Formats: sequence, C-alpha cells, structure tokens
Amino acid sequence: MKIQIINGPNLNLLGTREKDIYGEITFEKYLKLLKEHFTDISFDYYQSNVEGEIINKIHKIGFSYDGIILNAGAYTHTSVAIADAIKGVNSPVVEVHISNVFSREEYRHVSLIASNCLGSISGFGLDSYRLAIESLRVLNKDKTDSK
Ligand code: DQA
Repeated sequence: MKIQIINGPNLNLLGTREKDIYGEITFEKYLKLLKEHFTDISFDYYQSNVEGEIINKIHKIGFSYDGIILNAGAYTHTSVAIADAIKGVNSPVVEVHISNVFSREEYRHVSLIASNCLGSISGFGLDSYRLAIESLRVLNKDKTDSK
C-alpha cells in the first residue's frame, strides 16, 4: 500500500512553531516513527508553502497512490483550487489537522476541502496522521477483500 502525506504552509516549522498548539517534535522525526509502526505501508512525504505546488503534487500522484493524507494548513480555509484538485483525482484524500480547528478562531471552522475528502481528522495532535493512515488501511483492505 502506497500513501502520500502532504503538509501545507508553515508545517515545515513543526517542533518550533507555536509548540503549545502543534507540539515539540519535527515532522521528520514523527514520520520516522510512523514508518517504524506501519512497516507494511510505503510512505512518501511532501511539504510546500506554495498553493500551486501542492496542487501539482496532488495531480502527479493522485492517480496511482492508495491514499493521500493532506494537512493543507491555512489553505484548508481558503483554497477552492486545492478543493478542485482533490475532486479531480482518483486517490482518496483524508483531511488532517493537528489542532482541533473547531475549538479555535471562527475562520478555522470552515474547510473548503472537507466535502471532497473521504473524511476529516482534527484535534489529536500528530496522532491525527496515524488515525488517518488507519482509516486508509481499512478502506484498502475492504477494496482488496471485495475483489
Ligand atoms: C492546521 C490548522 C490550520 O487552521 C492552521 O492554519 C495550520 C495547521 C492544523 O494542523 O491544526 O497551519 O491545519
């Protein structure tokens, strides 16, 4: 099973940025733990602060991966273009947030991408990514079993 993780703007600063909200560890360190935990899954990781680059990545891998885990950061709340990109590809996308966006400022309560995603996971810290992977694994197993 092949999963692409995509992190959007400012998520390159994990471990440094607003530690009370986003935690103390870098994504690179966390990714290492994920890879050790899910030895049966192959992961690719991409981070960009640029909206168009995130869209290009979704187009590039969105027809061949078993799932995409997308933390679009602040673009979640603003980007029709990323929402359209998700709709335009075949791979299922799980929307992920580290913080509970619904307990924060009102402008974070709106997600323009959510309705084009398989589902959304928000508020479990970095563990949100693990939960997203679990959900894609179940989906993939169901698909394989029904063949
Ligand atoms: C975030 C929540 C967004 O509102 C914010 O702009 C981020 C991170 C999260 O993971 O909690 O950059 O997506």
